Amino acid sequence: MDDSEISELRPCFHSPDPEATRRYGECLARAWRGMDAPGPGGLVVSLRGDLGAGKTVFVKGLARGLGIDESRVSSPTFVLANQYVGREEGLSLHHVDFYRLESPDELESMGFFDLIGPRVLLAVEWGPKFAGELPSDRLELELQPDREGRVLQARAGGPEAARVLAAWSASLAE
Ligand SMILES: Nc1ncnc2c1ncn2[C@@H]1O[C@H](COP(=O)(O)OP(=O)(O)OP(=O)(O)O)[C@@H](O)[C@H]1O
Ligand SMILES: [Mg+2]
Repeated sequence: MDDSEISELRPCFHSPDPEATRRYGECLARAWRGMDAPGPGGLVVSLRGDLGAGKTVFVKGLARGLGIDESRVSSPTFVLANQYVGREEGLSLHHVDFYRLESPDELESMGFFDLIGPRVLLAVEWGPKFAGELPSDRLELELQPDREGRVLQARAGGPEAARVLAAWSASLAE
């Protein structure tokens, strides 16, 4: 897959309510789970959107898709990351929020880079704040309010993310 194909796939989804946003997250996690030979870098999802846009709601859906109780998911306000281990297949979800971080230097000392791994879905709220610290092969998801709910816009930064994005889009079209 060349770069033009990676940037071409930019699906846009409409979410009328929080449950729909959770379902989009659930479908993404399931699509990633169901992939043949998932990449060694796991899946990194960088979430962009203003306060209250629905980033945490989406991460709750990711948890659901990995068989994790979504009611346990809340923004990691006082720690860098929350980790949730899925019921099956040794998959886990790491939930990180860059909002309160002042400098990217804090990431190294807090072990952020150790979170990335083959069976890990790493979801980063306010990811664009330190985008340079994230792997380039990641999914970018932007949530924006519109008159009736939210618009979700996704983009893949590399071949592995593009594969997941294609599987996710296909599952939503079913
Ligand atoms: N279509 C929708 N999708 C997601 N959330 C929605 C939607 N419609 C309304 N909401 C409401 O918007 C709020 C989203 O809150 P959430 O904590 O997920 O935002 P956030 O992007 O994580 O904000 P923060 O940057 O403060 O962490 C919730 O109160 C949710 O009920
Ligand atoms: Mg949040």
